[in-house]
Amino acid sequence: MRVVIVFLLSALLPLCCCHARDPFAWLYGPQSQRFASLQANTNGQECPDVCDCPPTFPAAMYCDGRGLTAMPSIPSRVKYLYLQNNAITAVPDSALVNATNLVWLMMHYNQLTSDTIGKKAFQQLEGLERLYLQHNNLTGFPSNLPRTLQDLRINNNKIEKVTPADLEGMDNLTILYLHDNSVTDVGTSLKALKSLMLLDISGNKLTKVPDALPEQLHQLYLQSNSIDSLPEDFLGGFTQLQYVRIAHNQLTDKGIPANTFNVTGLVELDLSYNKLERIPPVSTTLEHLYLQANQIKEFTLGSFCSIVDVTNFSKLQTLRLDGNEISLQDIPTDSALCLRLASNIKV
Ligand SMILES: *[C@@H]1O[C@H](CO)[C@@H](O)[C@H](O)[C@H]1NC(C)=O
Ligand SMILES: *[C@@H]1O[C@H](CO)[C@@H](O)[C@H](O)[C@H]1NC(C)=O
Ligand SMILES: *[C@@H]1O[C@H](CO)[C@@H](O)[C@H](O)[C@H]1NC(C)=O
Ligand SMILES: *[C@@H]1O[C@H](CO)[C@@H](O)[C@H](O)[C@H]1NC(C)=O
Ligand SMILES: *[C@@H]1O[C@H](CO)[C@@H](O)[C@H](O)[C@H]1NC(C)=O
Repeated sequence: MRVVIVFLLSALLPLCCCHARDPFAWLYGPQSQRFASLQANTNGQECPDVCDCPPTFPAAMYCDGRGLTAMPSIPSRVKYLYLQNNAITAVPDSALVNATNLVWLMMHYNQLTSDTIGKKAFQQLEGLERLYLQHNNLTGFPSNLPRTLQDLRINNNKIEKVTPADLEGMDNLTILYLHDNSVTDVGTSLKALKSLMLLDISGNKLTKVPDALPEQLHQLYLQSNSIDSLPEDFLGGFTQLQYVRIAHNQLTDKGIPANTFNVTGLVELDLSYNKLERIPPVSTTLEHLYLQANQIKEFTLGSFCSIVDVTNFSKLQTLRLDGNEISLQDIPTDSALCLRLASNIKV
């Protein structure tokens, strides 16, 4: 019954939410938000005025999209903290001292800069698994990030460098979103991430593939950089790699060592929007190959099958060749035997 009434009230008063802003907030300005006293809500739980703390889910605190410019105070019970879509400019060392139980910290779409995040701000978050910092103004990784992180999103910032100290010891990190920054080189800083499955470093300023990549990667996204060549045996060291995207780079045939992509296990390979003139040899186990918008002038069936018989044929399902210098007539009719599973060929 109570739930129904609350629901009705909020439906009737859509603009006047249960945690309406203090009408006198203008008197003491946005700075006071950080020090605003915690008010007990109907459930007897502490909750800052500007945030919502659902009684049915006391581990969560929702402070997203409230126009905050500073960190609210955080009760220690909170595990899941939503602070995204605000204008928070700083995380002082003291801001998270009580928040030692945090598991998720969502701070994407704010105004954070590297200078305004305290060196120890995140240090005591000993159970933090997810940290979302994308779409801020960071020029580097914050110092002393918890080594417990599993999912770190720091894309769409202004990061130029990644140093070994940034990620050292993050043994459980499985997802790292670094895309749309200004990274020119990562050195060997990613090598130690022994659980990393997804690395997205697209939309940066890489001129070569990072030397030392973690061996357990399943997904490697390098598109929209300035890579013109690939190292010898580039894919040979991975044991689980399934998805490789290097679209929108400067790759030429000369820059790709023979048999680079003839590795089993790969499911999807995206080489679109490069400068290739030939179809590189790929493994018969590959399922999706994107080569659109290159300069390919001939259809080489041998790139897909060296032998064709009952058991030897390509597992390719998708083949994109549009935006090249070939047409349908250039595909020999006996291709059907090799590409017998390809239901989606676009020329
Ligand atoms: C941390 O908790 C203490 C004691 O409850 C309180 O006095 C202090 O204001 C809190 N600090 C923050 C940043 O929430
Ligand atoms: C963050 O970057 C945006 C866009 O570049 C800019 O408008 C804004 O002023 C910056 N904010 C801070 C706090 O530097
Ligand atoms: C990684 O996870 C395991 C198992 O949950 C845990 O024992 C270990 O302490 C974690 N490592 C780090 C660096 O947090
Ligand atoms: C891929 O490598 C295998 C040996 O590992 C070889 O038999 C096959 O011909 C190669 N495929 C192509 C298309 O070159
Ligand atoms: C082709 O299939 C035969 C069995 O029909 C197998 O012995 C041979 O290894 C296969 N060749 C390749 C290159 O996969």
